[in-house]
Amino acid sequence: MTITHLELRKKFIQFFEEHQHKLVSSASLLPKDDPSVLLTSAGMQQFKPYFVGAKDPMKDFGSINLVNIQKCFRTADIDTIGDDTHLTFFEMLGHFSFGGYFKKEALELGWEFLTSPSWLGIDKSRIYASYYNGDRKGTMPDNESKAILETLDGLVKIVPQGAKDNFWGPTGNEGPCGPNAEFYIDGVEAWNAVFNEFYCNQDGSLTPLSTKGVDMGSGFERVLVAVNSLNNLFETDIFTLLMDKLGSLPAHSQRIVADHIRGVVFLLADHVLPSNKEEGYILRRILRRVLLHIQGRGVLLEDLIDTVIDIFKSVYPDLVKEQKFIKQIAREEADKFSRTIDAGEKELDKILTTGVTSVSGTEAFKLFASYGLPIDFIKEKVNVDEEEFEKEFSHHQEVSRAGVENKFGGHGLAAGAVVSEEDKAKITRLHTATHLLHEALRKFLGDQVHQGGSDINPERARFDFSFPRKLTPEEIKQIEDEVNQLIQAGFVVDKQTLPFNQAVMTGALAFFKEKYPDMVDVYTITSNDGKVISRELCGGPHIKFSSELGHFRIIKEESSSSGVRRIKAVLE
Ligand code: ALA
Repeated sequence: MTITHLELRKKFIQFFEEHQHKLVSSASLLPKDDPSVLLTSAGMQQFKPYFVGAKDPMKDFGSINLVNIQKCFRTADIDTIGDDTHLTFFEMLGHFSFGGYFKKEALELGWEFLTSPSWLGIDKSRIYASYYNGDRKGTMPDNESKAILETLDGLVKIVPQGAKDNFWGPTGNEGPCGPNAEFYIDGVEAWNAVFNEFYCNQDGSLTPLSTKGVDMGSGFERVLVAVNSLNNLFETDIFTLLMDKLGSLPAHSQRIVADHIRGVVFLLADHVLPSNKEEGYILRRILRRVLLHIQGRGVLLEDLIDTVIDIFKSVYPDLVKEQKFIKQIAREEADKFSRTIDAGEKELDKILTTGVTSVSGTEAFKLFASYGLPIDFIKEKVNVDEEEFEKEFSHHQEVSRAGVENKFGGHGLAAGAVVSEEDKAKITRLHTATHLLHEALRKFLGDQVHQGGSDINPERARFDFSFPRKLTPEEIKQIEDEVNQLIQAGFVVDKQTLPFNQAVMTGALAFFKEKYPDMVDVYTITSNDGKVISRELCGGPHIKFSSELGHFRIIKEESSSSGVRRIKAVLE
């Protein structure tokens, strides 16, 4: 059978809709409200709160069974790119149940979809299945899945496997997890049904979930390869146009560029911006790697971006909306990179003229930190102690994050300086106003607004956020008015101290990924008529009642760095 990527999408959704699943669209690659991960790496990511019972799927989707096709990004696979079966950016077919069906239905549905001639019709002899052998402490072998698999007509091979392959989760450092059963097609893992029955805590211990759930994830591109009997991912119709543009590159480079440029486009479309940390660094790294591989080959960055958007625009119409922004940021980064390379390369050449054949991780990190020279670039010229480089890199991230926390944790109060009671009160008021400003920005400019950083002193609040362009005077006025309306209508601020994972599940906005203490404060601003205006995970302090706040005014709106705007505001 030959089917296109569009047909495969349609079939998958149709099959699960016919079996009482509700379609949910892909969430952003930048997970909303989940600081435990940098980027969305699985279809279930947006559903974590439903698996743990913190949110109600009936209320939000009108169904306890869902189907989706989710944009995902996995950094763990960066070094394997170029083989036949791995991608950094990919799409995941998913179906989910939160307390509806469980193992029997899940495995039977999967088998029918993959093998029935009415659906994908993949030859049964090409498929084998695996189930969990129970080798992780505190768990049992999944004999139930084994028994169900044995009833599937035409499935001839069923193998037990350990936790490494058959106990899934969590995403990030905690979350729902459980044993899984898989279908392998031509020896490649292609269909993974996870039976979430535990919450995996940060220390690795398992707490049973009150409601068991199903999280099936299947690599969309891998299924496309299988159903069309192709040799590798890059032969599928989602890659052909792109591969055609890359004919002048060596074969391995073609694959790396084809993979990475998709990541670049989709990350930028979700407003990840190049930087030296976290998801910004992931983007910077893959974009720079694209640039290194296409350098001098007559391939244009902009042309590749347009090609990716052409391929995907009918599936993700937002790409067209963001096309200009994506090209603009990518171009700025490319120009910055070529200036950097020149200076850094001179420095590296100086080292190389001494005749060395390898450099230490510390030296490589110095070239990276002082000149922005990418590790991939250094690696092409000389051997690098990468482990030491990674150590230096994460040490550097911790140091800069600690700096950030000092600055933000107390919002001007933690610096150890002597602050008068009056100044303390001013800072506290501005701090609460900043939460309102954040909400107003998201209301008028969209969820793509993410807080970059903020700095508060007794005179003014400064707030950075991701947004691609200058705000219009009308928008500034609207945002100011919204904050003042919220103040005038009246609200109360409430503080709750919760374990970190529970806090995140309340939907509280959080900014600094990973490094939160076990117990955190959640500040909720509730209007007098009972509506939640804002909920943020935050160190405080805050005022108690809106009547303490006064009048809010934006005194300046300017660019902070590319893709980031800065607002300065006062209370009068
Ligand atoms: N969440 C599971 C995975 O990503 C399905 O493999």
